[in-house]
Formats: sequence, structure tokens, C-alpha cells
Amino acid sequence: MSSSVIQTFELKKYYSGQTKALDGVDLDVRAGEFIAVMGASGSGKSTLLHLIAGLTRPTSGRILVEGLDPASMSDGALTRFRRRRIGLVFQSFNLIPHLTAQENILIPMLAEGKKRKEAAARAEELAEALGIRQQLGQHPDTLSGGEQQRVTLARTLSLNPAILLADEPTGNLDSVSSQHICEILDRLCRNAGRTILLVTHEPAVAVWSQRLLILKDGKLIADMPTSQFSDAHHLAAAYQETVEQNRAAAGEAEE
Ligand SMILES: Nc1ncnc2c1ncn2[C@@H]1O[C@H](COP(=O)(O)OP(=O)(O)OP(=O)(O)O)[C@@H](O)[C@H]1O
Ligand SMILES: [Mg+2]
Repeated sequence: MSSSVIQTFELKKYYSGQTKALDGVDLDVRAGEFIAVMGASGSGKSTLLHLIAGLTRPTSGRILVEGLDPASMSDGALTRFRRRRIGLVFQSFNLIPHLTAQENILIPMLAEGKKRKEAAARAEELAEALGIRQQLGQHPDTLSGGEQQRVTLARTLSLNPAILLADEPTGNLDSVSSQHICEILDRLCRNAGRTILLVTHEPAVAVWSQRLLILKDGKLIADMPTSQFSDAHHLAAAYQETVEQNRAAAGEAEE
């Protein structure tokens, strides 16, 4: 059995007032797993990713990422750890507007001291794989939303992170591009042993994962292998059923 890469223990994040963004989550992610996280808007998906990345600190409970607790690290140590080990793909693109797509992809590699020629070769390889090779010379404001998203993904993957935390990375893509990205992520886990935690609203994306987590009101209400699902429709039906059963058990009225 492979080792744990991410563990959370009774993890809670409360915001002032009554918001329980995360309300006691226990999770054990093993090396090489591709995990999808689903749940309604506001269920705590992004909060979970932000906590694991050390972008925000828990109200209580504990997180271990490769055996280290991000909440106990200094800001400097955390930044270095994140840069070396964790790749983040979040909803906002954060591309630098006055740089070309290629220059944006090069930034983290150059920051890590990679030689420009090697970095450029890696950028080309990723652009080819993501289908944005023709766009490398363009500036972000001349790219489509999906192309910007793929540039962001190329930039993140350029350092070959051990752990990839992705928050709806295919949210702005057409279904063909979206499936293409899933293939790339799937290959990263299978061949390169990368660990992926991916938030998505799309069953067609989640079905690529090995394990599906469902969050509801800050709680993990399901943790299931996806091998039991024959296709995305089957997964979507199981998702609906799980959420409805949970709602009935909690005695909530149908919406
Ligand atoms: N900085 C904050 N201050 C106050 N409340 C917050 C903050 N960040 C998140 N929340 C609240 O915590 C809850 C969970 O938010 P989160 O962003 O994790 O949801 P999500 O599952 O990612 O939703 P979506 O699918 O819409 O992205 C929400 O009710 C949200 O309003
Ligand atoms: Mg979110």
C-alpha cells in the first residue's frame, strides 16, 4: 500500500458568524491517487483545497502534507514547500498580462533556477500536450478563456509537482478540451505517480478519478471508488442519490 500524502484530522474552518465552511473532515490521500471532490456551491470544496495548500489556516483540527503541517510552518518555509511540492490550479487565472503565454509558463521554472533553454523546451512540450502550441506567442488578453486556463495548467505542471490541487480546472473548457485535460491528469497519476485532488461540478470529469469525495455543508458525506461507475451518467446518478439520502437522513425538506 502506498504512503499517505495528505491527511486531515477533524479539520474545521469556521468563519466569523455562523459559516462552517469545513466542519470536521477526516481524509487520507495516498500517493498516486486521483481524487475528485464534488458538492454543491458553498459546501467547502475550495476551502478544503486552500487549507491543504496552506493558503488559509484551520480553526481546529490538523493537516499533514507529506508528513508536514502547513499550519505550523513559517511563511517562508510554506512558500518554498508549496513551490517545490504542490501545484495549484485555481479558478482565477492569474496570468501576467504583459507577458506572452510562453513567458508566463516559464516564470516558475526560471524562478527555480532552470536554464532558459531547458525551460523553453519544457514549455513547448507542455503546450503541445495541451494543444496551445500555436498560442505561445500571444498575450493573455488575446487568448480564449479555455486557452488561458490551459496556459495556467502548463505553468503549474512545468515544475512537475508531486501534488496537484486543482479547483475546477476544466470549468471554462468545451467538453473535448476538458476530456483532453482529464487524459493528461490521468496519465500523470498512472505513469508519474503524481497525486491529484480535483474539485469539479462535472460528472464527465469526476469519472476519470479513482475516488470520489462528496462534501455537503462542510462535511464529507461520501468517499467511494469510481471503478464501480460504468460512465459519467452512472456517477451523476450515484452523486444525486447520495446527496438526497443524506438530506432525507438529516430530515431536511426537499428543495
Ligand atoms: N473568506 C471567507 N470569509 C467568509 N466566508 C467564507 C470565506 N471563504 C469561504 N466562505 C464561506 O464558506 C463556505 C464554503 O465556501 P467554499 O468556497 O469552500 O465553497 P465551494 O464548495 O468551493 O463552492 P463553489 O462550488 O461555489 O466554488 C461558503 O458558505 C462561503 O461563503
Ligand atoms: Mg469553490
